[in-house]
Amino acid sequence: MSTIKNIAVFTSGGDAPGMNAAIRAVVRTGLYYDLKVLGINRGYDGMVKGDIFEMDAKSVANIIQRGGTILRTARCDEFRTVEGRQKAYDQLKRFNIDALVVIGGDGSFTGADRFISEHNIPIVGLPGTIDNDLAGTDFTIGYDTAINTVIDAVDKIRDTAESHNRIFIVEVMGRDSGLIALRSGIGSGAEAVLVPEIKTDLNMLMERLDRSRKNKASRIVIVAEGDEEAGGALEVAERVKEKFPNYDIRVSVLGHIQRGGSPSCMDRVLASRLGVAAVEGLLEGRMGEMVGLVNGIVTFTPFYKAIKHLGTINPNLLKIVDILSL
Ligand code: F6P
Repeated sequence: MSTIKNIAVFTSGGDAPGMNAAIRAVVRTGLYYDLKVLGINRGYDGMVKGDIFEMDAKSVANIIQRGGTILRTARCDEFRTVEGRQKAYDQLKRFNIDALVVIGGDGSFTGADRFISEHNIPIVGLPGTIDNDLAGTDFTIGYDTAINTVIDAVDKIRDTAESHNRIFIVEVMGRDSGLIALRSGIGSGAEAVLVPEIKTDLNMLMERLDRSRKNKASRIVIVAEGDEEAGGALEVAERVKEKFPNYDIRVSVLGHIQRGGSPSCMDRVLASRLGVAAVEGLLEGRMGEMVGLVNGIVTFTPFYKAIKHLGTINPNLLKIVDILSL
């Protein structure tokens, strides 16, 4: 029998489509198991300031389809300090909170791990980030929606590129991770995909653009924002221009449209499954772990392992881009 009676949920780091579906699942699962459920506004910042309120089944009605996060989110410098975390803990005690569910990415889990080591409070995490850059889950909540937003945008860009015989260098999100670039690149039929995990071979890029010229009017290069020594698409466009001054080149930076919008069915189902599993995990005595889906199976991974995902780009997928770019 668990001693947990009151739990709180919050979102932290960059928002991601499906976070609301996750909040809804956590709140309703808590209520289903007769727990009191509280919401914390603006992540760790709201925890430090005590911006905490009770939630019920109605407070999460009609949100499964909404992008963003009803609990809002923030970055909190104070929580990075011992004193800040002590203040946050005091607030949790004030509200009699026994356990937490955090929905966020690597920064949120790093903070959670530190909090547990100092205050021994049970915390389970849900992977909420469009970047898909966490170990211990095949997909993070928000990734599927984001890559579908990217391919919608690139399909439209392709119409212009084709009509004008242009090369478009399209920058997508992912400061440290090329997973949005890679999957949306395959899905949109891009001629090349550049990711921060792998040093870009600009000669190879030039050859590929030249090779595909005879078969196509338009060519699309997808660049993750962290690529080309963080110069992103503009830097890549400069280099291509130097080599091929006669090419008609345009840059399109997709930006934060990738973070917004109604979540896909896949993200809603993922968020719902993981939200239920997170609360059940807490009641089973889990702490310091992220819940994910691996090969369709609910899996718990310690935070410190979940955040060590960097550098895992599947070379077979990059090869697919190469083969199909002819
Ligand atoms: O982690 C999600 C993400 O959208 C990254 O892909 C991107 O690099 C970063 O957040 C942008 O953060 P901000 O909205 O704070 O500029």
